[in-house]
Amino acid sequence: MAKRVFTKSGGGIGLQVRVMLSADDIAERVRELGEVINRDFEGKDLVVVGILKGAVIFMSDLIREIKIPLEVDFMATSSYGASTKSSGVVQLVKDLDTAIEGRDVLVVEDIIDSGLTLSYLSQLLLSRKPTSIKTAVLLDKPERRQINFVPNYVGFSIPDEFVIGYGLDFNHKFRELPYIGVVTD
Ligand code: IMP
Ligand code: MG
Repeated sequence: MAKRVFTKSGGGIGLQVRVMLSADDIAERVRELGEVINRDFEGKDLVVVGILKGAVIFMSDLIREIKIPLEVDFMATSSYGASTKSSGVVQLVKDLDTAIEGRDVLVVEDIIDSGLTLSYLSQLLLSRKPTSIKTAVLLDKPERRQINFVPNYVGFSIPDEFVIGYGLDFNHKFRELPYIGVVTD
């Protein structure tokens, strides 16, 4: 893991950030995930569902590694707001535009933490009778799980540290960082 320290400011917040996963580390892993997904979804009617807003960067890179036809759609759930701890309540803020009955759904999320978001969304989507539902997350914090949920595709398992960048925010900022960083102060 890279040990470089950056100072990054956004919205009046200045942070010390340690690089956990570089842009190159991420790109290489996203390519690998794309290869596996290409094999698993061959011949299927793939709908890729991104969870706003955190998944947008991972999703846009991942779908460009997928070589089979697909549609994209989005859902949004309530976020952590200004806190780094989950409220434990998941609220649907934006639903799909697309009907998924009889189709093969790949839900794409930035990170699985407690597991509440993906568990809630998977149950909701299952009730619409897709042929299959799978989940892809860039990051997994297994130590923090409150509910037993195992994603099908995981980019990286990481320790219990608050991370930003590559779509992940702190207080709505820092999503644009091209790497995954840990806030050190
Ligand atoms: P879960 O429902 O607890 O699994 O939380 C998933 C959501 O929490 C993710 O979509 C993120 O928005 C947010 N989250 C969890 N850990 C982090 C983190 O380290 N940095 C930024 N957001 C996080
Ligand atoms: Mg999120």
